Amino acid sequence: MNNDNTNMNTNMNTTNSLGYDKAIVSENLTKKFGRFTAVDTISFSVDKGEIFGFLGANGAGKTTAMRMLTGLLLPTSGRASVAGFDVFTQTEEIKRNIGYMSQKFSLYEDLTIGENIDFYGGIYGLGRSELKTKTSEMIEKFSLGDAGRKLIKDLPLGWKQMLAFSVAMIHNPQIVFLDEPTGGVDPITRRRFWDLIYEASSQGKTIFVTTHYMDEAEYCGRVSIMVDGLIEAMGRPNDLKLQYGCDSMNDVFVKLARPE
Ligand SMILES: Nc1ncnc2c1ncn2[C@@H]1O[C@H](COP(=O)(O)OP(=O)(O)OP(=O)(O)O)[C@@H](O)[C@H]1O
Ligand SMILES: [Mg+2]
Repeated sequence: MNNDNTNMNTNMNTTNSLGYDKAIVSENLTKKFGRFTAVDTISFSVDKGEIFGFLGANGAGKTTAMRMLTGLLLPTSGRASVAGFDVFTQTEEIKRNIGYMSQKFSLYEDLTIGENIDFYGGIYGLGRSELKTKTSEMIEKFSLGDAGRKLIKDLPLGWKQMLAFSVAMIHNPQIVFLDEPTGGVDPITRRRFWDLIYEASSQGKTIFVTTHYMDEAEYCGRVSIMVDGLIEAMGRPNDLKLQYGCDSMNDVFVKLARPE
């Protein structure tokens, strides 16, 4: 069932202002670049407070799907809503109400953490005193001490990513999209990053996260596995392991994403 109309503007999840039921709903969402279909009729929904892992091999279509859901890229067809807002017609409302760490996102390397907070917080309209409070909170939370005065480029990658996550949450969004936030980060720091994700989830925030690390897939409430633009499997990690007769998410992933 592939809807080729660009915007079926029926209410799928749109009892706003922010009185939405599901955090994210996608129905047959599709993106074509010319004749190439990068995202092919993907359908799923994500509950409020859920940690949803969006898995797939390189080029599977994860970033493209995420860019549509964050209001940055117009879909070709299908429909979707985020925080109850329509991805075709309400992209500005979506951007205001989500946090987004794009793939390879980093804070400004030649600014300090405080200066980055001033910049990003300023974009979201935070006032002077709020920005100051956020900066000291972050320096304390990450035990940065004097490192708080260092330029971002002088900090280890794992710290950069944790700070980038915190900055992506600076306006207290209820839904956050993280595109490979832990790529290249060491296992211990990745665990610390996931503590931040759990903390956000325990506050009721919804996390939509892509990763290539299968230990992280196990930390998600549910995952989907995308292959060549299609969602091939979706469910709780333990259920998927049972379904595919595998001991680990790594084996499930390999079975699906890289079939012989
Ligand atoms: N603007 C574009 N124009 C043409 N093709 C594109 C464009 N953006 C992405 N693609 C193609 O769409 C496919 C999906 O790319 P995408 O970046 O969404 O994959 P991904 O799952 O995020 O991969 P990775 O794990 O490497 O980040 C790829 O084949 C890519 O080359
Ligand atoms: Mg990507």
